[in-house]
Amino acid sequence: MTETTQQAAEQVKAQIGVTGLATMGRNLARNIARHGYVTAVHNRTDARTKALVEEFGHEGTFVPGYSAQEFVDSLESPRTVIVMVKAGGPTDAVIDELAPLLSEGDIIVDAGNAHFADTRRREAALREKGIHFAGVGVSGGEEGALLGPSIMPGGSEHSYAKLGPILADIAVSVDGTPCSTHVGPDGAGHFVKMVHNGIEYADMQLIAEAYDLLRHGLGRTPQQLAEVFTSWNSGDLESFLIEITAQVLAKDDPTQDGVALVDVILDEAEQKGTGRWTVQTALDLGTPVSGIAEAVFARALSGHAEQRRAAQGVLPGPAEEAPFIAEGDADAFVDDVRAALYASKVVAYAQGFDMIKAGSEEYGWGIDPGAMATIWRGGCIIRAKFLDRIKDAYAARPDLPSLLLDPYFAEAVANGQEAWRRVVQHSVAHGIPAPGFSSALAYYDGLRRPRSSAALVQGLRDLFGAHTYKRIDRDGSFHVEWAGDGAEHPWS
Ligand code: 6PG
Repeated sequence: MTETTQQAAEQVKAQIGVTGLATMGRNLARNIARHGYVTAVHNRTDARTKALVEEFGHEGTFVPGYSAQEFVDSLESPRTVIVMVKAGGPTDAVIDELAPLLSEGDIIVDAGNAHFADTRRREAALREKGIHFAGVGVSGGEEGALLGPSIMPGGSEHSYAKLGPILADIAVSVDGTPCSTHVGPDGAGHFVKMVHNGIEYADMQLIAEAYDLLRHGLGRTPQQLAEVFTSWNSGDLESFLIEITAQVLAKDDPTQDGVALVDVILDEAEQKGTGRWTVQTALDLGTPVSGIAEAVFARALSGHAEQRRAAQGVLPGPAEEAPFIAEGDADAFVDDVRAALYASKVVAYAQGFDMIKAGSEEYGWGIDPGAMATIWRGGCIIRAKFLDRIKDAYAARPDLPSLLLDPYFAEAVANGQEAWRRVVQHSVAHGIPAPGFSSALAYYDGLRRPRSSAALVQGLRDLFGAHTYKRIDRDGSFHVEWAGDGAEHPWS
C-alpha cells in the first residue's frame, strides 16, 4: 500500500466495496476507484488484495480488508458490497459470510453471471433480514470491467439510489448517455444479462454461418474473408462482433507460417451456460427464441466429436464440390450473405426482446425494452450500431408487437428477403449447415403467414386424445366423435 492510500484508508470510510478480486472483480474495483470513489477491497486469500493495492494503489483510494469483518467495518452506511465470485455455491458462501456482519438497509450486489432465479431466491431471503440484494449484469469482459462496461442493474429502488450514480460513472457512455440503467426489481438485471448472452450466442452463430458459406461458396482464404467482414463493419452490420470476426480471420497461426489461426482451432465450441439458461427459461415462458436455441444446439453438436467422426464418410452429402459460386457471381453472393446475416440478426434480436417482455410480464418487473437497447449500444459484447435503431423503434412505439414490425426493420428485412432465401437455398443445396439462417427465415415466414399448419396439429390432438380445438367461425371448444358417428360437439 502506498503511504497516501494508507493515510486515506485510515481517514475515510469506503463508499463501496468489492469482494472477489479475480480479474473481473479487480478490474471493476479499479474502475470504481479511478472514478474517485473510495473503494474497499477484499479477497478470500489476502495475496490478491495486497497485490491489487501494491500494483494499482496509485489509481485511486483503496481500503484493503484482510477479513470479512475488517472489510465490512471499513464501509460507510448503507454499506454496499459488490460480490464478484463464481456463480452458484461460491456466491452463496460469500453471502452467508457477509450477511451476519451487515445491518438493515445495507446492500449486497452480485455482479457476476448469476442465474436470475438464484438472484430472486437470494433477494427474497435477504429482504427478510432487511438487507437489499441487487443482481447486476455486467457485460464487456475483462477490458470492459476496467474501461467501461454495459451494466444491467436489478434490485430495489433503495439499492439503486446508492448504486445507480456509481454504476453510471463507471459504465461506458454513448452520445453522453451512460450504458447503465435500473432494469427492475429482484432478478430483472440478471434476466436481461442472460438474454443479452443468449443474443450473443445467436449473433456469433450467424456470423459463423456467414463465414462458412462464404468460405466454401467462394473458396476464399480466411484472410480474404477478413476483408469482407471489415467492409461489412462500416454498414448496417457495424458491431463489435463483426469487428473481432475480421480480427480473428486475419490472424495467422503464431506457431507456423502461412496457416490461418482459425484453421488450427479445434472446431468444438464450449459454453459456460448462459445461452443454455436463456433457452431453458424461454421454454418455460413459451417464447420462441429459435435463433438462440439453434446457436446453443449448434455448439452442442460441434462438441459431439465422436459422433461427428463416426458420421464422416458414412453419411453422404450433395455431389457438387466447393466452391459452388462462379467467380463472376462472387460479389452478388457476398451481398446476399450480408443481407441474410442482417435479416437473421433482426429476427434473433426480435426474439430476444420478445423474451425480455415476456419475462417482465411474468415477474412484474416493468422492464422498458427501449432502455435495454440504449444500454447495449456500448460496452457489451453485442454492442452494435443497429441498437440505435432498436432504441428508436421502441421510442416511436413502446408497445411494438415485434421488432420485425417496426417500419425501419420491416423494410430492411423485406429488402433482404430474396437474398436471404437464396442463401438458405445454397446452404441446403450444398450441404453447408446454416441452422441460424434457416430457422430465422422459418420464424419470419411463420410470423407473416395468415394460416399456420397448427390447425392440423390441433385436429390430430383432438383425434388421438380428445384434446379439443377451437374454430375460426364460432366461440368455444369442440370435439369430434372420431370413433363414433363423426359428429362435432361443443366441449366445456
Ligand atoms: C459478456 C459475456 C460474458 C460471457 C462470455 C462467455 O457479456 O461480457 O457475455 O459474460 O461469460 O461471453 O460466454 P460462454 O462461455 O457461455 O460463451
